[in-house]
Amino acid sequence: MPRTDSPPTRNPRPVTTTPDPAGGVEQRSEAAAEPAGSGYADAHAADYDRWFGKPGITGATVDALAGLAGSGPVLELGIGTGRVALPLARRGLRVHGIDASEAMVRHLRGKPGGSEIPITMGDFAEVGAPGPFSLIYLAGGTFFELPDSRAKQRCLAAAQARLQHPGGVFVFDAHLPEALAVAAASGVPEVVAETDEHLILCHRRIDASTQTYHSHYLIHESDRTRHLRVAFHYASPGELDLLARRSGLRLKQRLGSWAGAPFTRDSTYHVSVYEPATPEQP
Ligand SMILES: C[S@@+](CC[C@H](N)C(=O)[O-])C[C@H]1O[C@@H](n2cnc3c(N)ncnc32)[C@H](O)[C@@H]1O
Repeated sequence: MPRTDSPPTRNPRPVTTTPDPAGGVEQRSEAAAEPAGSGYADAHAADYDRWFGKPGITGATVDALAGLAGSGPVLELGIGTGRVALPLARRGLRVHGIDASEAMVRHLRGKPGGSEIPITMGDFAEVGAPGPFSLIYLAGGTFFELPDSRAKQRCLAAAQARLQHPGGVFVFDAHLPEALAVAAASGVPEVVAETDEHLILCHRRIDASTQTYHSHYLIHESDRTRHLRVAFHYASPGELDLLARRSGLRLKQRLGSWAGAPFTRDSTYHVSVYEPATPEQP
């Protein structure tokens, strides 16, 4: 979700961390070429759950993913603070994660059950985690944090190679570009959250020339207002399906929400489920 303009403070090399008895971090995997992820995650890890936790949506997300997971194991790309992964693990699934933000993972580790989740530190475009998995997923619009179509294609191909065959699925959620454009043109900011403690407004600005949108979050809390500017690289469902096909995946199901709403002409969002393609499936 949010990405600030502050410079990313990424670990230069991916590190695979697995739980140790003391809840520490100990195992290392191969090196990454470039830093990945978003600087907001390091800068605002302590605020993330408070600002963007959304219990209702989280519950629907966890229910949907649990229904797709079979008996596991599952892998979350961009596991963050464990908003989705920890409730899934509490349902008895073996959950692995990848993230580039040590700050976000530190918060995950501090939660009940957080020390037991194996996490690979690095760029999830490479999906550098062992498999095979029954489910590989992203939540919270995280797939659009990949900066371009090439990174998306790499991620899809790597995920395909780590899915159980048959039966494994790759799932993510995303905004529809058309709906983003309509909302941006209205000039009316979205109320992201409103509680007794804070008010969060978001205005998104689209740049079709780069296929990006910037989300401007205004967060008013404790008599202080902060401005987070966040960048995403978007793609239409058709482009995503094409990238998936080039990566050996095919669309299995597309819904309009994690709660299972049908995908229709009125949808503003989608949850897309891909499965490995076979030679018989054109
Ligand atoms: C919006 S947060 C979502 C966290 C969690 N999935 C959730 O739904 O609550 C996105 C997470 O993805 C991570 N991230 C973004 N791009 C990444 C990349 N290319 N490689 C690894 N992690 C990345 C960020 O560090 C952050 O923790």
